[in-house]
Amino acid sequence: MDSRSWWVLTPDPPEHRLPEDLRQRDGLAGRDCGWVNQMRPFVRHFSRPGQCVFDPFCGFGTTLLAAALEGRSGCGTEIDPDRAALARERLARHGVDAPIAVGGLPQVEIPRPIDLCLTSVPYFGCRWPQAGASAGQLYDERDYAAYLQALRDIFHAVRKALPEGAFCIAMAENLVVEGRMLPLAWDLGRVLGELFVAREERLLCYERDAEPLSAASTRSNRSHEYALVFQKIAETVCLDSTRGELEAMRAAGFEYTLYGSFARWLEHGPQALPRPPADADLCLPDDEAELNRLLYWLHERHYELTLWGEPVRPPLRIERLAQHWYLRAQRRDRLGRLVRLDLGLGLGLGLASQQQADSA
Ligand SMILES: C[S@@+](CC[C@H](N)C(=O)[O-])C[C@H]1O[C@@H](n2cnc3c(N)ncnc32)[C@H](O)[C@@H]1O
Repeated sequence: MDSRSWWVLTPDPPEHRLPEDLRQRDGLAGRDCGWVNQMRPFVRHFSRPGQCVFDPFCGFGTTLLAAALEGRSGCGTEIDPDRAALARERLARHGVDAPIAVGGLPQVEIPRPIDLCLTSVPYFGCRWPQAGASAGQLYDERDYAAYLQALRDIFHAVRKALPEGAFCIAMAENLVVEGRMLPLAWDLGRVLGELFVAREERLLCYERDAEPLSAASTRSNRSHEYALVFQKIAETVCLDSTRGELEAMRAAGFEYTLYGSFARWLEHGPQALPRPPADADLCLPDDEAELNRLLYWLHERHYELTLWGEPVRPPLRIERLAQHWYLRAQRRDRLGRLVRLDLGLGLGLGLASQQQADSA
């Protein structure tokens, strides 16, 4: 990898392309097949020889072939059984043994331990015109919110499988769907940002004549893609800043009970936990007015407020918080130190002490 933020990709040599007979056997004539050359620099830079590269949307096995060409092993999941069979045949012709599980995460198991996730996501609205799309086929999803939720679930499973410090790289493009701009790449970045730490983004340019955009259907002009590079890092909160914020909350008259790992850390010191806490859990009174007073106070102190990753602003109905269990309030101080408060309800119901007992 060099330091440029954009690259013009070199087309694959004929021996690495999807063979014509396999392309003909695909119901969409290989429509979604990517380039091996698109994946190779990422394999080289974000994994080491011998490590395993995983593609959760492995399609025709392009990423797994790139992994093998770079001396890595690979594995994947693919929801369409016919595509998975084509990928296996393509890889076998190269002498590559990379297991592909038929199905989608989180329902199927990732075939082997993995070190890097590298993938191109199926674009929303591209449609799967064949009859009998498999359940969970994201090309067949008509609801954008459900599509993003499915991506969230899939990358959540990826995150669980990756070791600490490993990278998750996903490629996508902003689209026009039925005449309307759809910021798919930015939304994917937001989904990944809830699970991983953003590292960088590269613009991949394809040297081919851009296709004209049409208002009639889903369109990409197929001239570029963004590669979004994220890393799995368990971020820990800054103990001093968090303690300072909790004291400021008390001084402003807010009632709360602190429980969970941050409370144990404060009470017993660093030896109580294997690593510093990732958040501070607070139990609040079941009182909508007090809740909103606190949310306005946090908002003024430049906290970002989210319910399961979705940004929210006060006023908030107490039922919404109850449905989501907790609201996350997060900010960084001037030195970049993290304060992350997870606010739940139930003070006075013994919930905090119950949860403390459960997590002990
Ligand atoms: C962009 S294509 C991948 C092509 C692949 N990068 C290649 O070049 O060989 C996306 C693939 O994701 C598959 N897919 C769609 N929904 C899925 C899901 N929920 N789980 C796993 N695969 C899925 C589609 O069948 C399609 O083959």
